[in-house]
Amino acid sequence: MDGTSMLAPIAKRLAGKVALITGGASGIGETTARLFAEHGAKVIIADIQDELGFSICQDKSTNGAISYVHCDVTSESDVQNAVNTAVSTHGKLDIMFSNAGRVAQLDANILAFDQEEYKKVFDVNVWGSMLAAKHSAKVMIPEKKGNIIFTASSVTQSQGMASHTYTASKHAVVGLTKNLCVELGQYGIRVNCISPFAVATPMLLKVLGIDKETIQEIVSTAANLKGPVLEAVDLAEAALFLASEESKYVSGLNLVVDGGFSATNIAFPEAIRKLSN
Ligand SMILES: NC(=O)c1ccc[n+]([C@@H]2O[C@H](COP(=O)([O-])OP(=O)(O)OC[C@H]3O[C@@H](n4cnc5c(N)ncnc54)[C@H](O)[C@@H]3O)[C@@H](O)[C@H]2O)c1
Repeated sequence: MDGTSMLAPIAKRLAGKVALITGGASGIGETTARLFAEHGAKVIIADIQDELGFSICQDKSTNGAISYVHCDVTSESDVQNAVNTAVSTHGKLDIMFSNAGRVAQLDANILAFDQEEYKKVFDVNVWGSMLAAKHSAKVMIPEKKGNIIFTASSVTQSQGMASHTYTASKHAVVGLTKNLCVELGQYGIRVNCISPFAVATPMLLKVLGIDKETIQEIVSTAANLKGPVLEAVDLAEAALFLASEESKYVSGLNLVVDGGFSATNIAFPEAIRKLSN
């Protein structure tokens, strides 16, 4: 047989690892759960969408590597139970991917600020992240190793893209990442976050009320990097890098996956271009 025509098996970058993924029943979390499983990890999805969560576990392509636990990240007992489930099922927890998120209305008008909405968003995005960190650290500290990854957002780099509430909540996640990296470094625990630019997941489809193709068209028009289209798998690959030994000395990083969008400010050259037209 011609050896060159055979596909090389993929190197399993998470062999023997156990990962808990909040918000893992949909979008970025689901895609990451599937990728982590492909790379040899045992994955527990923790979410409030039970039907979706269980359907991923039953999907034959995941080879029984993914299980599901109901977990509202705003409930301390739910988060504690999810971590305990990982430990009682697989004996340990190596990776906490705290990814569950809630988006606020797109209204960026401070006069429309609504405390109820603020509480709901901060409860999931900030309080939920703190609980995920607390309960995973509790089991990681005695092991003197572990890996905590949060999902923040590129709104932490490019301002004026989303509501004040959502933007402030994701800045808090970046602050938590960096502060925790300082506290937990002494225990060999790394703490990082990923910051996605707009990606057409169910969350974005719902908040914008438009279809996937239209979102991708808008994103491509606004993008700095032309050609590739940002997809959930690109965030899963970023999380895989942070979860794997390939990033063994990386901690306190906000890994921005925005194709360089936040490096641009085209307002000035645009104003000049308009003048010269
Ligand atoms: N899609 C984007 O454009 C984008 C951009 C930047 C950041 N993000 C962030 O990415 C993360 C994942 O979002 P997504 O785009 O994949 O959306 P998604 O809606 O597909 O997935 C979010 C998941 O979080 C779960 N969730 C929500 N509240 C929860 C709670 N209280 N407890 C447990 N689970 C809960 C949902 O059920 C859902 O499965 C979020 O933190 C979001 O803020 C998304």
